[in-house]
Amino acid sequence: MSLACRLTAFGFKPPALTVENVPALEPGAHEVLVRMLAAPINPADLNVIEGTYGELPSLPCTIGNEGVGVVERVGASVSGFAVGQTVLPLAFGTWAEQMVVPAESLVALPEGLDPLQAAMLVVNPATAWRMIHDFAKLEPGDWIVQNAANSGVGRSVIQLAKALGLRTLNVVRRAELIDELRAGGADVVVTEDTDLRTETLTLCGGVLPKLGLNAVGGASALNVANALCAGAPLVTYGAMGRQPLKIPNGLLIFKNISFQGFWLRRWKKSAPPAEVRATYEKLAGYLAAGVLHTPVHNVFPLDQALEAIAEAAQEKRSGKVLLRMS
Ligand SMILES: NC(=O)c1ccc[n+]([C@@H]2O[C@H](COP(=O)([O-])OP(=O)(O)OC[C@H]3O[C@@H](n4cnc5c(N)ncnc54)[C@H](OP(=O)(O)O)[C@@H]3O)[C@@H](O)[C@H]2O)c1
Repeated sequence: MSLACRLTAFGFKPPALTVENVPALEPGAHEVLVRMLAAPINPADLNVIEGTYGELPSLPCTIGNEGVGVVERVGASVSGFAVGQTVLPLAFGTWAEQMVVPAESLVALPEGLDPLQAAMLVVNPATAWRMIHDFAKLEPGDWIVQNAANSGVGRSVIQLAKALGLRTLNVVRRAELIDELRAGGADVVVTEDTDLRTETLTLCGGVLPKLGLNAVGGASALNVANALCAGAPLVTYGAMGRQPLKIPNGLLIFKNISFQGFWLRRWKKSAPPAEVRATYEKLAGYLAAGVLHTPVHNVFPLDQALEAIAEAAQEKRSGKVLLRMS
């Protein structure tokens, strides 16, 4: 038997979410049995539990969208993975001591990484990396503007942009985060009450950003859109403020701003497997080199997953809440 966090109904109704013993798993011929080490609790996990996410699993199921583990056993036809090797499962069901993953959905990691940091590589750094690369042609020195800049994605954008020679204009809703983000590589950090329509040219030294990233919606998204240069995209990837975007006609007519969306799950399904693997190998290199780092707010053992979920649902955290399996 092994422990797993199981969901039997949507909507945060106890006992719809339980941590329970499930039968020990066996890998099929093309599968790998992974002993999980750690997994974070992301906003999307909360949306899955409440039943509001864009794609919902069939119930009952073990939940969790990312994490890190080590190979415990390989199926008879699997090559390229060895027992004890650290791996990233690109599969659902990570909040468990064990999971069975098709070999083609595993990425081998370099040894020696901090398991908590490695557990957070699949979702947020990859979202940041793809959004930086897939929507605008950016050259070193170009600016990106984003809201929710202290979020996991926001910090990855800051760190990866810095490594690529790009500059970031960052919006946060808490002034106490300004110095911390600047120390972490952010070029400019302002609070939500800064009018980017009038202030951006001054803040960015006379040029306007070529890429906008929005994880909030509502007035915050419009503020970010107002900072952009003509023809630039505003990419929406999150809706933390739960307010719709209201787009003034002028942003479309006079500035030709394009409003687009990004969903990592769509990219993982539609991108060539080689691109997906190359993205994670690149990001693992950045993690090993110390370029990527996500602050940790708290770590809970798996059998305290319900307490961990309640803490992850709180605003104004100092980082991610994670589950540690062993
Ligand atoms: N589309 C995709 O593929 C994709 C991939 C990854 C993440 N996401 C989405 O991106 C967003 C951020 O995820 P994450 O894991 O990086 O988040 P996170 O690390 O958990 O941080 C949450 C962020 O949202 C901010 N926030 C919360 N409520 C807010 C509100 N009402 N108004 C403004 N800001 C608010 C928080 O600010 P405080 O610290 O001040 O509370 C914090 O910056 C989520 O919506 C997530 O679902 C989407």
